[in-house]
Amino acid sequence: MNQHTIHATISGPIVMIGFGSIGRGTLPLIERHFKFDRSRFVVIDPSDEDRGLLDERGIRFIQQGVTRENYRDLLAPLLTAGGGQGFCVNLSVDTSSLAIMELCREIGALYIDTVVEPWIGFYFDKTKGPGDRANYALRETVLEARRKSPGGPTAVSCCGANPGMVSWFVKQALLDLKRDLKMDGAEPSSRDEWAALAHRLGVKGIHIAERDTQRANTPKPADMFVNTWSVEGFVSEGLQPAELGWGTHEKWVPANARTHETGCQAAIYLMQPGANTRVRTWTPTAEAHYGFLVTHNESISIADYFTVHGSDGKAVYRPTCHYAYHPCDDAVLSLHEMFGKEGERQADWKILDEKEIVDGRDELGVFLYGHAKNAYWFGSRLSIEETRKLAPYQNATGMQVTSAVLSGMVWALENPEAGIVEADDLDFRRCLEVQRPYLGPVEGHYTDWTPLHNRPGLFPEDIDTSDPWQFRNVLVR
Ligand SMILES: NC(=O)c1ccc[n+]([C@@H]2O[C@H](COP(=O)([O-])OP(=O)(O)OC[C@H]3O[C@@H](n4cnc5c(N)ncnc54)[C@H](O)[C@@H]3O)[C@@H](O)[C@H]2O)c1
Repeated sequence: MNQHTIHATISGPIVMIGFGSIGRGTLPLIERHFKFDRSRFVVIDPSDEDRGLLDERGIRFIQQGVTRENYRDLLAPLLTAGGGQGFCVNLSVDTSSLAIMELCREIGALYIDTVVEPWIGFYFDKTKGPGDRANYALRETVLEARRKSPGGPTAVSCCGANPGMVSWFVKQALLDLKRDLKMDGAEPSSRDEWAALAHRLGVKGIHIAERDTQRANTPKPADMFVNTWSVEGFVSEGLQPAELGWGTHEKWVPANARTHETGCQAAIYLMQPGANTRVRTWTPTAEAHYGFLVTHNESISIADYFTVHGSDGKAVYRPTCHYAYHPCDDAVLSLHEMFGKEGERQADWKILDEKEIVDGRDELGVFLYGHAKNAYWFGSRLSIEETRKLAPYQNATGMQVTSAVLSGMVWALENPEAGIVEADDLDFRRCLEVQRPYLGPVEGHYTDWTPLHNRPGLFPEDIDTSDPWQFRNVLVR
């Protein structure tokens, strides 16, 4: 018996690229919430580790890597076979989101991914400068494709938990603040109006504040990278430069900060790896803690989305926006070990699945600071215990991602001619409505904590006491 809501019908083939931690977790959600032809569901992955899940369902599996050389010949026939509108769900590493997205739009298929992923080799290409290896550069390639070819078949870029869901959380958090500060005016209905609301509320910045406390039943062995989602994905992004949306209230810039000459101009990057850059942040259970300033697409897209431009085109208002990620404790140890070898990844790695996690939760939310109520965290506090009850084949981290993929797919099917879109462009209410059953407690919490709390301590510090919410105070130096 199926008590789950069928949100939409997928009329053509479904092609899922990548069957790792996120692909596996997305599978049962697709089965529950869409009407589709199972005989036209194909999964492609060079690894057959989990093909048993597909075999027992009669879902076709192609054991192959999608590459620059084969992607057209491989994907186009699969996505068009048998008529209807195909849907490409890209959940792999090392495949170009841009190339596959453009192919899908050419052949009239819908497309979704959770990151702007490049072809293999990009992240570790020493011939590229740090700026060229940044997410800013990757995102600009997608924005350029949108400028060149507006409208047409919907391709949802970067629709996981973060990037993805957190963009919807920001809008809900702004409305909560508006309510609590008793600010009048209608709910925004356009990007300009959303940016104006953030401006009026005096939001200086936004952390994507995540604390993952999931713990494994066995301690991390030496020379192994352990994480709760893609190790390959995390290592790649962790070695990109630290990157953040750069707010108009900032008075100080780190000496190793760099700007970009072209593009949206909403972000800067630091000449150091993000996973080795610490910031001060806050989540409800841990309260004050350190997070890593790992680059993420949403740091740039959110800062860009909420920019208020003056008549001369210059930014009058923009929030600072960045990730402040405390991954599971084993991943913190793994990073420490890896950076001790100057970024050389461990010989072995492992993604903790739902069976080997004993307890913990992933608290993932947005932390809006600098306004009249100081700071507000709004997000999901999903535990592993609750995740196990909600859906199979995933931990709490995965569930927040896969349910966002589900929302993005529903939105694409309901808006099939929207062109290339980011999570910020989607209807946040509809997306959260679809996703919320999978998020555990979704809560808002105010705090009087600031990054100047308990500072200076036993040593003199270079801090700005005139404004606690300066990046100068947030960055751990
Ligand atoms: N936005 C978010 O919130 C979010 C969160 C988690 C993961 N992600 C992204 O989702 C993607 C998948 O994450 P995951 O945790 O499932 O990773 P994973 O490492 O568990 O799985 C990746 C899968 O891709 C497969 N793969 C590798 N090369 C391939 C190729 N050339 N063609 C097809 N498949 C290939 C691998 O064999 C593996 O099964 C990653 O890009 C990751 O960065 C996004």
